[in-house]
Amino acid sequence: MFEVLPYLEPDPILGLSTAFKKDSNAAKIDLGVGVYKDEHGNTPIMTSVAKAQKILLDRETTKSYITMQGHQGYIDNMLELLLGEESSVLREDRVAAVQAPGGCGALRILSELVARTNEKARVFVSDPTWANHIPLIGSAGLQLETYPYFDKDKAGIKFDAMMDTLKDAGKGDLVLLHGCCHNPTGADLTNEQWDAVLELAQDRGFIPFIDVAYLGFGDGLDEDAYGLRLLAENLPEVIIAASCSKNFGLYRERVGLAAIVTENTKTRDIVQGQIQSVARGSYSMPPSYGGALVDIILSDTALKKEWVSEVNSIRNRMQSLRTMLVEKLNDNGAEQDFSFINTQKGMFSFLCITPEQVREMRDKHSVYFVESSRINIAGINQQNVDTLARALVSVL
Ligand code: LMR
Repeated sequence: MFEVLPYLEPDPILGLSTAFKKDSNAAKIDLGVGVYKDEHGNTPIMTSVAKAQKILLDRETTKSYITMQGHQGYIDNMLELLLGEESSVLREDRVAAVQAPGGCGALRILSELVARTNEKARVFVSDPTWANHIPLIGSAGLQLETYPYFDKDKAGIKFDAMMDTLKDAGKGDLVLLHGCCHNPTGADLTNEQWDAVLELAQDRGFIPFIDVAYLGFGDGLDEDAYGLRLLAENLPEVIIAASCSKNFGLYRERVGLAAIVTENTKTRDIVQGQIQSVARGSYSMPPSYGGALVDIILSDTALKKEWVSEVNSIRNRMQSLRTMLVEKLNDNGAEQDFSFINTQKGMFSFLCITPEQVREMRDKHSVYFVESSRINIAGINQQNVDTLARALVSVL
């Protein structure tokens, strides 16, 4: 029966890893999938995570089912990390939340919950947005709209155009916002721009749907939560999908959080039951392991301190890689001004080059990255930066 289905090309992001592995060029460079890599190109287990694994191994006495919402300790710790210790919505017990299988799992069950609530809901996503937002949200049956976000010619945010389009979003609509470290562009809203988004949401009545996958990789764990906390504190309803893939380096363990800020505790109880029922009808309950590790880290003062310092080192190193790339591009005679790379945040930069140039980078120079011109900054290191800069200047 399956012969009726069309053949699909490899995933635009994950498919790059397969193509990279097949390339026999010893000087190949992988700037594709968003995974942190150290100076040697490895993705090590974070020290705090390795310590938590040992603790868990000693502590775990059963492999029986966990509860449908996941580890409550994980959920509570994550909500505090995201919304802050002073959060009034947490104090007022207005947040429904479940542990989810990765940020993707969170995005999907939240979209299904929205579709269950209002099948006509439109979700406004930034142009461009992370490629997988489209199937994750669209396949839940929600209607996708786009809002202008990034100006390739100016390598900056088209904030006025974004706000103009979002005036059209109203009650029952959602606006997908990247909490920090916008994927794919690395261009983040300033605090003043978040303030303006809040005013617009208050005025129009749309619900922010915030995807936070890179907390701590932009300016710092608290700094990166500015927009998220502002909206959660000042709007009756906010939807949050969070991921621990990047900032805990737990990619393959699939650790995420789906949270909904509700207007009051009565609605919270309804939403808690509904989101659990969506999860039950999909994968029943989340995998235990990764959430248990995050719970151990965030519950232990010394381990949390160590984790925060690891996140800070990753962020600082990625910033220094940005600076190094811009310097090497200049040294190699780039005529364009690439200094915008230094102001972009998190794991990605948008080089603002054409798809043809991206293909030339891959076919002629074995440098792999997404066709939109998104590069994974963490794929750069002292050994490959010269080759990368020379290749880039040659295709420009
Ligand atoms: C990315 O954007 O590269 C990562 O989030 C990996 C993925 O699943 O696409």
